[in-house]
Parts: sequence; C-alpha cells; structure tokens
Amino acid sequence: MPLDEIEIREMAIDDLADVFNLGERLFKAGLWPALYRTWDEYEVVNFFASDTETCLVARLDNKLVGFALGSFIEKRRSAWRYGYIVWLGVDPDIKRSGIGSELFSAMKEKFIELGARMIFIDTDARNDAAINFFKKLGFDHENKHIYMSLNLTHHPEYKQHRKSSKKWRIKPEAQPPSPELKQHRKSSSKDQTDV
Ligand SMILES: CC(C)(COP(=O)(O)OP(=O)(O)OC[C@H]1O[C@@H](n2cnc3c(N)ncnc32)[C@H](O)[C@@H]1OP(=O)(O)O)[C@@H](O)C(=O)NCCC(=O)NCCS
Repeated sequence: MPLDEIEIREMAIDDLADVFNLGERLFKAGLWPALYRTWDEYEVVNFFASDTETCLVARLDNKLVGFALGSFIEKRRSAWRYGYIVWLGVDPDIKRSGIGSELFSAMKEKFIELGARMIFIDTDARNDAAINFFKKLGFDHENKHIYMSLNLTHHPEYKQHRKSSKKWRIKPEAQPPSPELKQHRKSSSKDQTDV
C-alpha cells in the first residue's frame, strides 16, 4: 500500500467514534489484563478535550486506519518536558504496512515542536509486537514496572457499599408510594390550591 495515500492529521470531533471503535478491537481487557488504563469513550473524549494537538489519526480513502493519543508533559519549575504516547493503534487488517511508523513520526515531530526532550511509551510486557515496534523506532532503556492488584470484592465495606448503592439505584418513583406519602401529597396539593 503506498504510504503517501495515507492522510495523517490532528483528530477532529468526527473521528471520535471511529477511534473509539478501532480501540475497542485492539485494547481488549482479556488480551492485555495488565494494562492498567481503561479504553472507553471517556478516554477518547478526554484526550480530545485536553490534548488535541497530540491526538493524531491516520485515514486512507476516508477510512480510519490508525490513531495515536499522547500528552505533552511539562513539570512546573523545571526544564523537564516530555511526550508520552498513551495509545497507539493500527487497523489489524493492514498492520505491518508502515502506518504505525508514520503515526509515530508525526507524533515525534509534534513533540519536538512543543519542546519535548524525550518520548515515553509503555505497554504490557507480553505485547511483543508493540515492544518490537518501539525498539525498531529506537526506543531503549526498558524498565520493568510491576502492576499489582488487590481484590476488594470480599472486603466487608465493599459489600456494604454494593448493598447500599443497589438500594439507591431503585428510583423512588418506581416504588408504590407509601400511605403516608400519599396522604402528604394529597394535603400539600390541597394547600397549594387553597392559596
Ligand atoms: C504495534 C502497532 C501499533 C504497530 O503498527 P504497524 O502499523 O503494524 O507497524 P509498522 O508497519 O509501522 O511496523 C514497523 C516495524 O515494527 C516492527 N513490528 C511491527 N509489528 C510487529 C509484529 N507484529 N511483530 C514483530 N515486529 C513488529 C517491525 O520491525 C516492523 O518493521 P517491518 O514490518 O519492516 O519488519 C500495531 O500492531 C497495533 O496497533 N497493535 C495493537 C495495539 C498496541 O499494542 N499498541 C501499542 C501500545 S499502546
């Protein structure tokens, strides 16, 4: 596929649904259980709202074929500025065609323009495709980072919270009004007509 036919540009509001849907195909919880971030609609919308400049899409014949969502980070009172690519995805039907590399180059240019001194990425330790991909692009200094989890569902306070939130989820209007409430409504509507 000729790469010059691919349009890479900033993500626009009309791209949001396509980006979300492609991400749904790629970032499945079962596939990468250690991925601590969650892919959902809010993730895409929040990136669009807060990091518009560093959210890019790749389109081919008007079809979304990839995206990169990142942040430019500046530490207060420090010269430390860096780019962080949080989500990068390419349509699996056309992977290994160079689209991921093109998206990365565009992102890198953007970060350089903004003044970043370094780019960070992270991914699941078993995501060999992504690790090879980033290595090919020149990333090194792999640091192992451990994510651990604590299951809270057996904690007594969690159970209590679940119980009370279930109770509150029932709309009061869905339940038949108590005789006291009926009486109260009757008398207050009478009061209003009396005024
Ligand atoms: C990782 C990903 C973005 C790569 O996109 P891509 O468009 O297929 O990558 P490219 O075609 O630009 O590949 C560039 C190089 O990366 C390496 N690479 C890419 N995919 C690879 C794979 N599956 N296995 C081994 N190496 C791979 C190769 O060296 C490749 O060069 P080559 O094809 O000439 O050998 C894509 O596979 C993807 O969307 N994966 C699922 C989501 C994900 O894991 N995202 C990254 C973490 S957020």
